[in-house]
Amino acid sequence: MNLRIARWLASLGTAMFFAAPAMSVDASVHHVEAKACKQCHEEIYTQWAGSMHANSSALKDPIHGAFYRQVMGDPLQEGLKSKKGQYPVCLKCHAPVAAFEKKTKLDAKPAYAAGVGCTTCHSFSKFKGTTKPNGKPAYGIDAYEMDTTKLYGPSGITYTTGRTPEGATWPTPVHHPIPMEGNKAALFKSNAACMGCHEKRSNFHGTPLCRTGDEYEASASFINCQSCHMAIVTVPKMKDGKVVPGETVSIPDHTMAGGHDAKMITRGIAMTMETRREGDMLKATLTLRNRLPHAYPTGAPFRNFFIRIASYDKDGKELWKNYKVHPIKDDPKSAFWYTLGGADGKPTIPPKATQVLSDTRLKPNETRTVEYEIPIESATRIVRAEALYDLLLPPIKGKLKGKIPDDLLKPKLAASAEIRL
Ligand code: HEC
Ligand code: HEC
Ligand code: HEC
Ligand code: HEC
Ligand code: HEC
Repeated sequence: MNLRIARWLASLGTAMFFAAPAMSVDASVHHVEAKACKQCHEEIYTQWAGSMHANSSALKDPIHGAFYRQVMGDPLQEGLKSKKGQYPVCLKCHAPVAAFEKKTKLDAKPAYAAGVGCTTCHSFSKFKGTTKPNGKPAYGIDAYEMDTTKLYGPSGITYTTGRTPEGATWPTPVHHPIPMEGNKAALFKSNAACMGCHEKRSNFHGTPLCRTGDEYEASASFINCQSCHMAIVTVPKMKDGKVVPGETVSIPDHTMAGGHDAKMITRGIAMTMETRREGDMLKATLTLRNRLPHAYPTGAPFRNFFIRIASYDKDGKELWKNYKVHPIKDDPKSAFWYTLGGADGKPTIPPKATQVLSDTRLKPNETRTVEYEIPIESATRIVRAEALYDLLLPPIKGKLKGKIPDDLLKPKLAASAEIRL
């Protein structure tokens, strides 16, 4: 079987070493690069290649890379260990193939640097849950049974690696160059396909950092992650990097957009503003609704958003604003963030946190109103409120300025509302 994969890859010109008769690591399906799937799944490949899954390793994601170097060390070093002498847990989700093979030098194989690849997810044969029998957390690859010889999908189609025989009668198995079982709908069409890496993660002190799965459970929703994050999209058919004129395909969107996507973050929040004039004050009520079955924002603990509400004259000159430096300091009701703290009760960074001090993000399906009193001058013409989404909290931004691309430090407009006087 592995020999067949090897031959097929060799025919594609994939530079790998297949001479070893015994099952070498490189003959595992995990080392079949996404480029080899591109030949027949080019549209999905293109979506994936631009996704955070394809860019999740410390060598590709500048934000994760910066944290990884700080908390663990050099991603180009083999045998890297955490301060506690353990295998770097991060790799179990961010570089799953390296973790599966217990390696830490991420440039040693393309599949290590590639992050969460096609053959990572599609080699899952079972979701075991995120708690081990001994009560310890099972992260990423530890939460799944992973096959090194076969791939899986949800369709119900029967596949064969052989050529479909001439004159075969229905039902004819579909040819797939890599062994494929299309019988895993229960896994691939449910949250189980995501929860191994997205359910929750705590730091070494047991403080929860990410809890998208817990949030989702609390919302008692029955809509799966895929309904939103892998919606069916109809895109132009692609062949060898070019659009095939007039032809389209419908596929589950493998972009899997989240906080990095300026459009996705506008999907989850609805904001409206009502105002009432009282003398030279304008009383504004903002109503914020989270339309999602997880928090807004969810995910990494430094994701946050804040409200900027300001008044302007007819030329757009700002006359008043609800904060000077940042709402976290100057207007806490306008800051929606997950506050991790140390033993001293002061906010701290994720690896050092021993407690959650507060969580002012919008809970699943929560509606929150926030009131403002805005001084009105004779020149005031516009009052505008903006919900601004940030990947990182201000102190972390300060530290990473100049070290990561600038656009990762810029807040993105998630929602706006305005009135004209
Ligand atoms: C993060 C996990 C993940 C990654 C990475 C991933 N997939 Fe998928 N893929 C899924 C899930 C989940 C489904 C099922 C979606 C559904 O049916 O709701 C799926 C479905 C598919 C399908 C079936 C399409 C259809 O029309 O129903 C194909 C083909 C596929 N993936 C190919 C790929 C290829 C090629 C890559 C890499 C370029 C890739 N996948 C990367 C999770 C993943
Ligand atoms: C020679 C063409 C070819 C190559 C190369 C190829 N596939 Fe496929 N694949 C197909 C065809 C044909 C189907 C069935 C119809 C469809 O979904 O397009 C399919 C279906 C799938 C499915 C859906 C399984 C299900 O549920 O029925 C997945 C997942 C998938 N391929 C993943 C991959 C991955 C990952 C790679 C790269 C390692 C890959 N394929 C390489 C042709 C190919
Ligand atoms: C093997 C682990 C793994 C699996 C399985 C997985 N993911 Fe991910 N996912 C990651 C990692 C790691 C990242 C973060 C990449 C980064 O930012 O460095 C990520 C990023 C994302 C993001 C983007 C976040 C952002 O910052 O923009 C979304 C959305 C997402 N995943 C959704 C899904 C969905 C939906 C599924 C199930 C179909 C899924 N993932 C399955 C590991 C996984
Ligand atoms: C109703 C649609 C919907 C469903 C269902 C849904 N999400 Fe989301 N998700 C969104 C939207 C919109 C965003 C962007 C806003 C945000 O970050 O909260 C998002 C953001 C995310 C992010 C990005 C976090 C980051 O750091 O950038 C991740 C990861 C994620 N979702 C995972 C999941 C998982 C896992 C599930 C299933 C348990 C799920 N989502 C279910 C709509 C949805
Ligand atoms: C259980 C799986 C898992 C483990 C273990 C894990 N992460 Fe992540 N990490 C994710 C996922 C999923 C995302 C993206 C979606 C989100 O925000 O939840 C992410 C996002 C991040 C981000 C934000 C990246 C960006 O582009 O904004 C950083 C930084 C990060 N992780 C650092 C680490 C470090 C450092 C470790 C190890 C100490 C680690 N992670 C361990 C799953 C994991």
